Amino acid sequence: MSGPNTAFDPKQVASLGADEVMAMVEQACAAVDAATSLADLKQARLAHAGDRSPLALANREIGALPPAAKADAGKRIGEARQQVREAVERRQAELEAERDAQVLREEAVDVTLPVDRHPLGARHPLTTLMERICDVFIAMGYDIAEGPQVEAEWVNFDALNVPPDHPARTMQDTFYVEAPDSGVVLRTQTSPIQIRAMLERSLPIYVIAPGRVFRTDDLDATHTPVFHQVEGLAVDEHLTMADLKGTLDHFAQEMFGPGIVTRLRPSYFPFTEPSAELDVQCFVCRGSSVGDPRRPCRTCGSEGWIEWGGCGMVNPRVLRAVGIDPERYRGFAFGMGVERTLMFRNGVTDMRDMVEGDIRFTRAFGLEG
Ligand code: DAH
Repeated sequence: MSGPNTAFDPKQVASLGADEVMAMVEQACAAVDAATSLADLKQARLAHAGDRSPLALANREIGALPPAAKADAGKRIGEARQQVREAVERRQAELEAERDAQVLREEAVDVTLPVDRHPLGARHPLTTLMERICDVFIAMGYDIAEGPQVEAEWVNFDALNVPPDHPARTMQDTFYVEAPDSGVVLRTQTSPIQIRAMLERSLPIYVIAPGRVFRTDDLDATHTPVFHQVEGLAVDEHLTMADLKGTLDHFAQEMFGPGIVTRLRPSYFPFTEPSAELDVQCFVCRGSSVGDPRRPCRTCGSEGWIEWGGCGMVNPRVLRAVGIDPERYRGFAFGMGVERTLMFRNGVTDMRDMVEGDIRFTRAFGLEG
């Protein structure tokens, strides 16, 4: 701030002369116009319109003028400052518009680009089917159970009452991990999950267990060394084969349609007694093709029934092996192949289609939930 200027000194207020003020405005406008970015402009604004700009300093000198000159100088400075402010605003608007245009240009999305640059995957129908099966049983109050794919031989065989000399245990069927006497195998069935469920859970037990299993088969249209099974197990007081049959009929209807029933044929499995082969009524011909050569059925080969899996009442020896009293508790169990189920349910004729991972095969199943 200048002090009171009692004696008027024209030199001290030379900055208020018309030429000087015009030069300040020109300089200011030149700096503003030269700014090529908003940051540059900010610098120019501070230098030419800020508190310490030549125009602001000149403004302070007005007080030193004789009263008659004040109005004139004040008007001149006021107009000059207004001119600079307007120049700054104009440039500011231009630079902002440029910046916005650049953002639009750089962040533009070309909506005409082909949409399948990153093709969507698809869930494998085996996964979908296993989830569907689990849903059916979850709705009946079952839990999902799991077990390891690398399994103890004792759990995969011995505890299931499969004796050491059983042919299924030989190297021809079973993948042994390390040496055959290592006692560690790739599980050949999901039945060991029954053993784990009974060892780990408290009674009563109702579990459904989908999983990957391994056998030393070569890959062909009907075999694959890696496939999937789903295992069901119920252990409770008072269970009978009628409960098993009712459960399987319900399962069959949920899988293949209303009214479809199952049939049990006497059979043998070491871990069930009695044991049965499980057939499901052909959901295409419902038996009408049997003995009628005019209307053959491709789904069941005109048999009327399709082999689906195995089942039975849990062998008391198995219950004892896991410490459950067979006098008090009884169980039923069943197991079926998931690939096989998919084959006749969806008309897949070659097992290799399921393992090759061709997205076109998987996509054909759509998004069935
Ligand atoms: N684990 C048997 C297999 O792989 C299938 C099976 C049969 C499972 C009878 C069961 C059952 O739970 O009770 O051939």
